[in-house]
Amino acid sequence: MRIGILTGGGDCPGLNAVIRAVVRKGEEDYGDQFLGFMDGWRGLVDNITLPLSTERVRDIISLGGTILGTSRTNPYKLEDGVDKVLATLKDQQIEALVAIGGDDTLGVANKLTAEGVNVVGVPKTIDNDLSATEVTFGFHTAVQIATDAIDRLRTTAESHSRVIVCEVMGRHAGWISLYSGIAGGAVDILIPEEPFDIASVCANVQALTASGRHAAVVVVAEGATPGEGSLIVTSSEVDQFGHVRLGGIGNLLAAEIERVTGIETRVAILGHIQRGGSPTAFDRVLATRFGIGAIDAVHNGGLGTMVALQADKIVRVPLNEAVSEPKLVPHEFYEEVAKPLVG
Ligand code: F6P
Repeated sequence: MRIGILTGGGDCPGLNAVIRAVVRKGEEDYGDQFLGFMDGWRGLVDNITLPLSTERVRDIISLGGTILGTSRTNPYKLEDGVDKVLATLKDQQIEALVAIGGDDTLGVANKLTAEGVNVVGVPKTIDNDLSATEVTFGFHTAVQIATDAIDRLRTTAESHSRVIVCEVMGRHAGWISLYSGIAGGAVDILIPEEPFDIASVCANVQALTASGRHAAVVVVAEGATPGEGSLIVTSSEVDQFGHVRLGGIGNLLAAEIERVTGIETRVAILGHIQRGGSPTAFDRVLATRFGIGAIDAVHNGGLGTMVALQADKIVRVPLNEAVSEPKLVPHEFYEEVAKPLVG
């Protein structure tokens, strides 16, 4: 078969490991030919390609980013966008497409199945917010990077008797904040799902510093909001999927902590550091398993599905179910694992 591959949305460590697994298994076991489309759906709209082969994907398992590039292009928001995608598929004689992305990219993949396009989806996002899979690759790497950063912030915070607010990614889902906050021993962990009470954050900081320990690291997800508050946005620009650019809640929080507690408070916004660099071994293995599952799905009755991890098995979920609901941190889980450990 002649198969297209694309990576869409924010990049994520492990994308190259998926591409490698799809191509290697496809060539070896099924005799497939592969064509990469550059920069997500933009490559299909504008017919920009990169031929892929086992030789081309050699040595990329440990490589961060994506050799195919990515973008947040939405063909449904462009004039004639969908027609152009269909024309490219015809022109390149593509019989099936492996789309690697988060809810936006896979949402487009899902709509295209209604146009008769043969698609298999692979879930990707450092945010870990796709409900159909227990975990997405990239999440483990992002948590490790954030935890390493918190460990480093802790020693300098301690030396200077400062509070440090560490802002991590997480637009609607606080998984990175929750996991890295627990692993890093944060004094408070703030997530988008649980509007926070600034007075309680300050009280936790004060209790910790008064107890004689001085390193107070507060971890906050970029999408966290004070109760009754609104998102702090760095710009009013929205992408083609309607997302505003976040970032800035950390600064607001730090200023307020310093004002209330009188303790010098600094901010570290980790931003895209969390998305860069090599995937952890866990993410390389998960991405490889997803890649193998995806090419098997293309050949063995799995068109129109997304591969997912459930009970440590690679399973297939219909694309329309896969993208229907985000996976948020449940209130009970936050109460159970975060609250007893903070303060
Ligand atoms: O969706 C993943 C993510 O990393 C979010 O956590 C973050 O809000 C967003 O991407 C940032 O996207 P961009 O790189 O387009 O600014």
